[in-house]
Amino acid sequence: MSPARTVLGIESSCDETAAAVVHGGREVLASVVRSQVEEHAAWGGVVPEIAGRGHLQALVPVLQETLDAAGLGPRDLDAVAVTHRPGLLGSLLVGLSAAKALAWAWERPLVGVDHIQAHAYAALMSLEAWSFPYVTLIVSGGHTSLYRTESPLEHRLLGSTRDDAAGEALDKAAALLGLPYPGGPAIEKAGREGNPRAFPFKRPLLEPDSLEFSFSGLKTALLYTLKGPGGRREDPTRPEAASIPDLCASFEACVAETLARKCLRACDREGIDRILVGGGVARNLRLRRTLADLAAREGREVAFARPEHCTDNAVMVAGLGHALLEAGRVDDLLLDARAR
Ligand code: KG4
Ligand code: ZN
Repeated sequence: MSPARTVLGIESSCDETAAAVVHGGREVLASVVRSQVEEHAAWGGVVPEIAGRGHLQALVPVLQETLDAAGLGPRDLDAVAVTHRPGLLGSLLVGLSAAKALAWAWERPLVGVDHIQAHAYAALMSLEAWSFPYVTLIVSGGHTSLYRTESPLEHRLLGSTRDDAAGEALDKAAALLGLPYPGGPAIEKAGREGNPRAFPFKRPLLEPDSLEFSFSGLKTALLYTLKGPGGRREDPTRPEAASIPDLCASFEACVAETLARKCLRACDREGIDRILVGGGVARNLRLRRTLADLAAREGREVAFARPEHCTDNAVMVAGLGHALLEAGRVDDLLLDARAR
């Protein structure tokens, strides 16, 4: 085996500008995440033009802070890993251009990383030892998919969302409820004291053997609950304050249970007893509890990415970058950014 190497990771696919230095694919030497949430909150979601400009302003200071925190210079780094897909094109290009410039100037290999695979790697990083295969659930603002994972680099898609991602559904539900962006944490906070059975939203499990997801009907169900059938009632534009905790808890419970049941369905179909969960929504405590409970009842194990590694970060990019480097899968300076 080759000696463990030290990788600089760069992430700029959405609205977080992040850099990290990771040794041996596991040991975090430094990690800095600059979120643009405040800039986008006024618009109720991520605005691509604002995100691109934000990365341009933030990236150099974030890189400097990361290297300072690690106490390392270019000579101590073995490779530069960067998210090059999928994401907002203008945002990806900022991180990718910087990574290419550094790889060229420092004469180090450039390693292009897939953002979804990086979220899965974040979940693997929470485990002391790996035991493949796993069923992997990636749940974020842009993605909701199940995979069969054979190694850190091999993920076969089992099913994906037909419409909204789970995080997107939470973000849109929060907007309907008059709660701030991002909606996932806002709904979690507002629903903490609520009754998750107060509004029995139908779980969108689809056909009995389906490993796909669909959250757009749930969003409509919330709208009709708030504004009457057809969603046309003019007022109230805001639900009664008293019912917000129950609405949030019920909506969140529906999303959590749906995600959990699909994971177990995938385990049944693939004959696998171990589950990995990553992505921003994996931070959600109700999802963590629901899935852990249901899995335990069936004698199955679940590993979630650490909370700080669920939402976008560069630790997972540097970590997966190390695995790619070990496998000899490095890129040249012609590496492209791909939105999808
Ligand atoms: O992974 P991520 O940072 O970005 C994407 O790759 O999309 O995920 C962001 C998403 C947002 O939709 C946000 O509402 C959701 O993750 N999220 C949460 C929580 N924290 C972030 N959803 C539920 N509960 C949370 N605590
Ligand atoms: Zn992400």
